[in-house]
Amino acid sequence: MKLVITGTPCTGKTTLAKELSTETGWPAVDLNALVKKEGLHFGKQGNEYVADLEKLRKRVLRLLAGKRNWIVEGHLACEFALPAEVVVVLRVNPPLLFERMKKRKYALNKIKDNLFCEILDYCLLEAESRYDNTPVIQADNSKPVSAKELLSRTKMRKSDRVDWSHMLHDKKLAFLLKERL
Ligand SMILES: Nc1ncnc2c1ncn2[C@@H]1O[C@H](COP(=O)(O)OP(=O)(O)O)[C@@H](O)[C@H]1O
Ligand SMILES: [Mg+2]
Repeated sequence: MKLVITGTPCTGKTTLAKELSTETGWPAVDLNALVKKEGLHFGKQGNEYVADLEKLRKRVLRLLAGKRNWIVEGHLACEFALPAEVVVVLRVNPPLLFERMKKRKYALNKIKDNLFCEILDYCLLEAESRYDNTPVIQADNSKPVSAKELLSRTKMRKSDRVDWSHMLHDKKLAFLLKERL
């Protein structure tokens, strides 16, 4: 299986990919870690590295060359196409995502951007437009999905339906999303 796991930061990609890798023995590539470790970026903007997507994609393709099974995970994986058999977009309901990002001490403007991305299906739409002829499925990880379950759903190409659009009216989130930064 050649599997891409993408989604908004804090949806549980790294956690699930590690579990899946342990379960199957397939190597997992963490794109964020690779960007940092190999300096595949243009420097920092605030606390964050701005990834050099072209260098990153080429490096990942070299890493994966000749391998039958692999997992690549990261929100950046929706920004370019990799030769995957399936793309899984992990989703987490925005209030829970908000709590997770706060716990990780993300800056408020980053929390806001990421919440908008999650509510507006950013990773899903990007993946669908970039990965031609590759099935893109969604897994709602708000209630944690196990590696076994994800694998079985992936093999069946079984997707969850996700629609967070009503969350734009959620009082707590609406306040946050409207706040001037
Ligand atoms: N299945 C889960 N149950 C509870 N918390 C989780 C679960 N998966 C991830 N988390 C928590 O969410 C945060 C983000 O997880 P992580 O796997 O690093 O996400 P990502 O790689 O998508 O940014 C971490 O604090 C982690 O402890
Ligand atoms: Mg991660």
